[in-house]
Amino acid sequence: MNSKGLFLSGFLALAMATAPALATVKTIVLPPDGMYLKPSPLPGDAKAQGNCVACHSAEYMWYQPPTAPRAYWDAMVKRMKAVFKAPIDDADMPDIVDYLAKTYGSEQPK
Ligand code: HEC
Repeated sequence: MNSKGLFLSGFLALAMATAPALATVKTIVLPPDGMYLKPSPLPGDAKAQGNCVACHSAEYMWYQPPTAPRAYWDAMVKRMKAVFKAPIDDADMPDIVDYLAKTYGSEQPK
């Protein structure tokens, strides 16, 4: 066997060894951006995830003006609770508002 043949058989053996692994790789198709809240290291991220996407998707947040100040988000969170009876713990509100203002509102990093 010449060296090219050796190389090829080696390549084939490698290809056959990795093929089953490749066959089990699943393709996960994610819905378009906007269906989920933007990830953030802020503590309000998990709290918003738990409190703000039960009734509607995260799209509502993406559609808010990026210039919306903290007070706007504060009012929004309170409105969700007062008007729509969102079961948001008052103690979680400051973190949620902080997350929203910094992730979707006027306090976003430029
Ligand atoms: C109990 C259900 C419920 C929960 C939980 C909830 N919302 Fe809503 N939200 C609604 C409804 C209903 C509307 C639609 C209001 C409308 O069509 O005018 C809405 C609309 C919105 C809108 C669109 C703007 C507007 O004024 O209508 C935003 C932004 C929003 N919610 C943010 C939030 C955030 C942030 C949270 C978490 C703190 C949250 N929502 C949790 C029910 C909820």
